Amino acid sequence: MDIREHVLQTFRSEFGQDPVLLARAPGRVNLIGEHTDYNDGFVLPAAIDRAMYIAAAPRLDSTITMVSIDFESRTAFDLINLDDPDLPAWSKYPRGALWWLREQGYEIPGFDAVIGGDIPIGAGLSSSAAVEIAFIELGLALSGDESAYPSMSQVEKALGGVTVENQFIGMPCGVMDQMASAMGVDQHALLIDCRSLGVTPIPMPPGVSIVIIDSNKRRGLVDSEYALRRQQCEEAAEILGVEALRDAAPEMLDAARDRLGDLLYRRARHVVTEDARTEQTAAALQVGDLAAAGEAMRASHASMRDDYEITVFELDTIADLGNAQPGCYGARMTGGGFGGAAVALVADEAVDAFIAAVGPAYTQATGLTPQIYVCQAASGSGVQTL
Ligand code: GLA
Repeated sequence: MDIREHVLQTFRSEFGQDPVLLARAPGRVNLIGEHTDYNDGFVLPAAIDRAMYIAAAPRLDSTITMVSIDFESRTAFDLINLDDPDLPAWSKYPRGALWWLREQGYEIPGFDAVIGGDIPIGAGLSSSAAVEIAFIELGLALSGDESAYPSMSQVEKALGGVTVENQFIGMPCGVMDQMASAMGVDQHALLIDCRSLGVTPIPMPPGVSIVIIDSNKRRGLVDSEYALRRQQCEEAAEILGVEALRDAAPEMLDAARDRLGDLLYRRARHVVTEDARTEQTAAALQVGDLAAAGEAMRASHASMRDDYEITVFELDTIADLGNAQPGCYGARMTGGGFGGAAVALVADEAVDAFIAAVGPAYTQATGLTPQIYVCQAASGSGVQTL
């Protein structure tokens, strides 16, 4: 049974009635453009064909009851105690989305909901952004009569999800994950200008597969190291006299090398060169030049490893193994870092051999068993009335 059907059936068995709404928001994989979003730069993610689904029905009272399939947990609360610390941790993302909608003036009735999905949790594929965006979609639909509120664009929903992370969860992330989840386009990657929030869909060339290799090395240190990188970028921008590192040219970095010092110089060099690689990759994919796109992805991994220092042994191992396989254009760690997943662009006919080679070699090197997914670029979030 597919996951969508599983969520619908679980709703029927948990609540003894049919759901009336089904919200969906996909995970994302970032092809290139890592840690550039909060520097006002460029990213190139794709929404993937793995998503969070929420089946729901409104209630007559103000109680909100939620069942999480992944966490095998059921909880109930009221809109007035959204930040009750005794509620289960998994429900914090849904509660954050409802909090944000209320802040915007939306009135949300009580409802029953079942949440489930097939985005691996903790792998760096943005399952939490998907939960936030799916709940924003659901909350908007539950708040009823569309004519009562100005309609909300996908960009506004994405920024809502970012506000949930920044203010309700306390994670100082950029806009990439929520933008990808809300704005994905079938069979396209998205070149996102994180300053203007302009999105250019880039068609995925025929004959190539997006392969995701989840290292099963769960991300550690993410929160503290992520905030530290962000702070270092702000310091570097200040020394360079620019609003954000997006505005720094490579020559500016070299001219300010002494003032920056080695650490900030390398952090800034990653961001500045990664922005350039991201634009190059988008241009290369546009014309089907997979070799050039793959070369930029390999350089991105090296830059994350040596300059930004966010990779770990397991992800370096996967990138090296992947990049050594015939038919692999490029492989790199994807997402925030310190564990999680790698992404590779692999010629369709080479995918089976790639998986057969990389999986066992990785296990031999690390003792960990990877999960490998071949993904399609998918459309963004939405909600349907059943
Ligand atoms: C996490 C954040 C994103 C982005 C990436 C790194 O996924 O949520 O905003 O900064 O890390 O590229």
